[in-house]
Amino acid sequence: MTDVTPLQAPIGTRDILPGESETFATLVGTFATMAQRYGFGLALTPVFEDVGVFHRGIGEQSDVARKEMYVFEDRGGRTYALRPEGTASIVRAFVQHHPTTPWKVWYVTPAFRYERPQAGRYRQHHQLGVEVLGTEDATLDVEVIALAWRFYESVGLRRVTLLVNSMGHAACRAIYLEHLSAHLSAHASSLCDEHREGWSRNPLRVLDCKKEECVAVTNAGPMLNDFLCDDCREHFAVVTAGLDAVGIAWAHAPRLVRGFDYYTRTTFEFIAEALGSAQNAVGGGGRYDRLAEQLGGEPTSGIGFGSGIERLMLALEAEGVALPAPALDAFVVDTTGGTAGLALVETLRAAGLAADRAYDGRSMKSQMKVADRSGASVALLIGPQEMASGTVTIRDLRNSDVADRQHSVTLADVVSAVREATNRA
Ligand code: HAM
Repeated sequence: MTDVTPLQAPIGTRDILPGESETFATLVGTFATMAQRYGFGLALTPVFEDVGVFHRGIGEQSDVARKEMYVFEDRGGRTYALRPEGTASIVRAFVQHHPTTPWKVWYVTPAFRYERPQAGRYRQHHQLGVEVLGTEDATLDVEVIALAWRFYESVGLRRVTLLVNSMGHAACRAIYLEHLSAHLSAHASSLCDEHREGWSRNPLRVLDCKKEECVAVTNAGPMLNDFLCDDCREHFAVVTAGLDAVGIAWAHAPRLVRGFDYYTRTTFEFIAEALGSAQNAVGGGGRYDRLAEQLGGEPTSGIGFGSGIERLMLALEAEGVALPAPALDAFVVDTTGGTAGLALVETLRAAGLAADRAYDGRSMKSQMKVADRSGASVALLIGPQEMASGTVTIRDLRNSDVADRQHSVTLADVVSAVREATNRA
């Protein structure tokens, strides 16, 4: 026994290990296929950035920037932050590299937020997302939403609700903000503890507050969609008509303002109805037509969404959906003590089959136990008799009642025998 205390994963983080990580991998793989189908290329950017990318991007006054960012100084005295979300880095890369537009990229990334940990809310989570830069076309908004929607459908989620709203653009939102601020100022004493003093820092955040007091005050106040200018109203009408045209059900959520300052016009969120908790958004996004400029680039429209992989996993579980996990085809049990087992697994793998074996020269009984637990379709047994005759005994591990559960094949035929057996299972 060692007297060294084992260390734990940091609070609010979780290890995603085999047994669970297959679902994670399938979600990433399905998303990659889907994104490629919609014309997106993969973008990989550093997981840490100059803190200015996020301050300018998501807004210095956003809750995430003020309270949740992991900011650190490196050994060269530069101030960096771990990425709390994916969009700002992608737009920083767009501004830096000047790709031709429309620039359509997808990503999979960890994201770090110093939140109060609870089910579905972690200090490190993972997001799948897309961003498109360089067009204001409202029908693109429909495609971006459709990509998320079809992705959720294709992994088997059935109870997802799409909420959409328009946040207007800088000019019409500024007028709305004046009215909202006047209303909040007049009713400040009725707001929740957090917003009573702090509402003026970011009045839109009060619309996002779930506390009864704030909901009551804001419900009685001005609503953003009453202040949209004609252009923004038209943009939103094209988006909603487009969603109807491609058969995606949506609901208008006039209070949906989302947590980052960069949003303009279309905003949306996907709610997993099977998740009862407050952490039921499996994805969200919207337009950000000023972000490139805020990061020092030319004025360039953008839109995208991010979807939390851990939340998706929780939603799948809550809906009782199990994604097919890749399984082993064959488990090699070799009791001869030589390299026959090693050679056989390598032959199988080279032929495209998934194969594993036991180690440490264990007994037949002990190796068979591991084979049973492995989930493989068949066990391939090599004992002294098989060695002598150049054969392998193939044993069906899934169907114990088939007549020919166990039979002998020559080494030359073993790959096709395993293929036949795995197809039958
Ligand atoms: P967000 O709504 O902050 O948006 O995050 C996107 C998704 O990530 C959420 O809907 C949720 O599924 C998941 N998520 C967020 N925070 C956590 C957490 N602490 N624990 C677990 N899951 C979490 C963004 O990040 C934007 N960048 C989305 C976007 C892309 N907008 C435009 N383009």
